[in-house]
Amino acid sequence: MITLGINAAFHDSAAALVVDGEPVAASEEERFTRIKHGKRPLPFTAWELPFHAIDDCLRQAGVALADVDHVAYSYDPARFLGAHAGEPTLSLPLRPSAHAPGEWENVWDPLFAAYVVNAPRQLASGAPHHLRERLQGVRHDGPHRFHFVGHHLCHQASAFLASPFEQCAVMTLDGRGERASTSYGVYRDGHYESLGEVLVPHSLGLLYERVTTHLGFLHSSDEYKVMAMAAMGDRHRWRDALWRHVRLQAAGGYELAPLDLAALFGPARERGGPMEQRHLDAAAALQAVLEDTVLELAGWLRSVSGLPDLAMAGGVALNCVMNARLRDSGLFDRVWVQPAAGDAGTALGAALWVDARARLPGTADPARFDGGPLALAPRRWRMDHAYLGPGFEDEDIEALLQWARLPYTRLGDVASATARRLAEGQVIGWFQGRMEFGPRALGARSILASPLLPGMQARLNELKDREDFRPVAPAVPQERLGEWFSPAEANDARAPFMLFVYDVLPHQAPRIPSACHSDGTARVQTVDPATNPAFHALLERFGELTGVPVLINTSFNVRGEPIVCTPQDALHAFHSTPLDALVIGSFLLEKPRRAASSATREGSSAPAREAEAAHDDALAAEVAP
Ligand SMILES: [Fe+2]
Repeated sequence: MITLGINAAFHDSAAALVVDGEPVAASEEERFTRIKHGKRPLPFTAWELPFHAIDDCLRQAGVALADVDHVAYSYDPARFLGAHAGEPTLSLPLRPSAHAPGEWENVWDPLFAAYVVNAPRQLASGAPHHLRERLQGVRHDGPHRFHFVGHHLCHQASAFLASPFEQCAVMTLDGRGERASTSYGVYRDGHYESLGEVLVPHSLGLLYERVTTHLGFLHSSDEYKVMAMAAMGDRHRWRDALWRHVRLQAAGGYELAPLDLAALFGPARERGGPMEQRHLDAAAALQAVLEDTVLELAGWLRSVSGLPDLAMAGGVALNCVMNARLRDSGLFDRVWVQPAAGDAGTALGAALWVDARARLPGTADPARFDGGPLALAPRRWRMDHAYLGPGFEDEDIEALLQWARLPYTRLGDVASATARRLAEGQVIGWFQGRMEFGPRALGARSILASPLLPGMQARLNELKDREDFRPVAPAVPQERLGEWFSPAEANDARAPFMLFVYDVLPHQAPRIPSACHSDGTARVQTVDPATNPAFHALLERFGELTGVPVLINTSFNVRGEPIVCTPQDALHAFHSTPLDALVIGSFLLEKPRRAASSATREGSSAPAREAEAAHDDALAAEVAP
């Protein structure tokens, strides 16, 4: 049974393909169209479907859309339409200023709803010409069955049907779905049951978005910058004042009182304007209140579920500082977060849910969910890695390099050659295997550098044209986590998705100055040799050379663009940034040495010249016959 999941209602458009209980592909539209987040979350863009991501999922599975049994769309317009759900027509405003919203929250809600309701027709006939091959031969009514699945149910399913837990409490926190902003559930004995929801306008995600806008950043995109700023602010200055706007209620509920941000934090910061201490303090207060609130909600969920493990999703669950606080709170034994916790992950959740329901004999409507408990077919998969996007063979990469007449070297030992250059201080684009699903680069489309050099963080931020305060993240072999970071035993001593911060062990911090945030923490990725052997081998080689098996890992992209997807994208990014080298599959591309390096070479001492000669010999040996 083949199930295609689609996220398209808001942003982070994405597709996922599940075959008989196992995802075979998942990717985000932005990586193909090169438009960050795919689109803006506006009513006017709700019609756009992620055709490139859909096409890629079908291609990876070797099937066409006409072969798909179920299409699962991660938004249920019936929940949004309410009393309008049965109406055959809706009125659209031609002069919106003349319209009072009436029973709609927004005058454009009917437009948004009409676009979503007609997604099956858009899927059947809206594919661009260059993607027709795999997407033709279907109608809006088949041969597949099209299902609208509740947005938060999709987030929840993306967590508990992907986590390592056989049973767990489940929590989703995002801006909003149809109506919900926070939801709770429990997965136990093969059944899922809802434990309640918090509805808009009360939304921790929307509060975080509002403050993000107030601090001069792009909401629904730059929230992680506010999280990074929070570490440099005074969380006590406005924490209590902000906390008074949060009203905790029974059964996991909360309300947010009206809040005048300018009255509390002062005037909004202009985009790109100077960063003042009050901006950092506002970020710190927001982060503190988010963490405190979520701890309260999680405490309730722990007691009512009675289960020791927690799975989470929703855009707020990308907040790795909050996640760490939850991990360290002792409320749950283990916390697992879906790596595509934002809306992209709902494509995967929608497909997993419909697949798990449809595989159960006798299920008439696989998308139907009234709160449960509802039985699901036995799981056949757990998410050990996020490498679900497209990959490229050496043969294809080399053909491109030859066609483009680019000089390159085929490496005999990719890990050793790359590690040596990183140890010399080079900054390297690292393109290996299948692309990551979710917002983090996890060693498939990464920029790598040595954490030993104090100026490396600033150099990387300059290279990526990012703000000075942005930290960079360390990757470490999974089995060596405890040598460098704490608490090492938490969550089965694994952090494969860079979704939790750790303390850098004080005696190790001076050895990896560029990997430490200003508060002594680091957003760690543990690398498993079973799921990313190339990256693991590189970390080991780097450790042999330097004594430090840790590398800085930041996403492989240039300013304002999504993470690279194809070899062409990687070449473009390599040649338009000051990256020193690109390691792509088995191939190495290098930039000419800078003038300063040449001058050093001219005047270098005898030992230095010998070292360089040895290095060049090693290079020659790497070239394949
Ligand atoms: Fe969401």
